[in-house]
Amino acid sequence: MKDFIAIADYSSADLQAMLDNALALKKELAAGGNKPVLKDKTLAMVFQKPSLRTRVSFDMAMRQLGGDALYLSPAEIGLGQRESIADVARVLSGYVDAIMARVFAHDHVLQLAEWASVPVINGLSDYNHPCQGLADALTILEEFGTLKGINVTYVGDGNNVAVSLLHVCARLGANFTIANPAGYDMPAAALEMGRTFATQSGSSVTVLEDPQAAVKNADVIYTDTWTSMGQEEESKKREAVFPPYQVNAALVAAANGRAIVLHCLPAHRGQEITDEVADGPHSRLFPQAHNRLHAQKAILVKLLA
Ligand code: CP
Ligand code: NVA
Repeated sequence: MKDFIAIADYSSADLQAMLDNALALKKELAAGGNKPVLKDKTLAMVFQKPSLRTRVSFDMAMRQLGGDALYLSPAEIGLGQRESIADVARVLSGYVDAIMARVFAHDHVLQLAEWASVPVINGLSDYNHPCQGLADALTILEEFGTLKGINVTYVGDGNNVAVSLLHVCARLGANFTIANPAGYDMPAAALEMGRTFATQSGSSVTVLEDPQAAVKNADVIYTDTWTSMGQEEESKKREAVFPPYQVNAALVAAANGRAIVLHCLPAHRGQEITDEVADGPHSRLFPQAHNRLHAQKAILVKLLA
């Protein structure tokens, strides 16, 4: 596997091995620093959308592993506009050892991977967010010691983050439930794929509309923005539909007492999550964000070392 484009492209064993390595690299860092296993390796980071976590965690991951990263903003590259994606991919392949890209159309990251001779990592597309999914799995693993049999409930929009979360849960044996308003479903094919992986791992996939019913017995409650990057013109309409899906103290109280709350961030406090929950005892939002660093090191090492 040259690239990291989707959780679905990786087997349960591969994902588990990456999580084990992420834990080892996290421990190694805490014990004084990582070995320079990516010495002299370089990563180009191509962004068509804004980012805090993805940008900084990939940059720091490369530095801490002995390599270097180069940030290329939307204005600089003009992916598919100033220059074709195939040309960008072939040019960058002569300069750097890997490309991480955050794009709008998922097809654009697929095209990059097709034309680049170096590994391509999907740093979020309109369809999925696999780096986030791996960090989410790492956070759940650290909390509960396993994903097998853990009940993960996603509340909100059936978006890119939900797709990768479903796939990582289903691959690793966590039971996945989603509660979303009518008309904001996950893509049907992604859901079908999730059901297949769940059958293989002995877990379940449940789709509901009622958030209260969905969080019953949940060990993990997960939410994300109601309006993703690129959907800004729909935000008013979405703000009218999504309030019943807010993760607030009443919803958390309806879950398992040991439940943790996750959010990929950035959070829109007072919309999909309240301050009380985001900053409360169930929240693992910041350890989760920090785990992006460790999970992505495991991806980089798998593709580059
Ligand atoms: N969760 C996440 O990907 O954050 P950024 O958009 O800040 O990278
Ligand atoms: N669903 C969000 C995730 C941001 C990290 C978006 O695509 O904007």
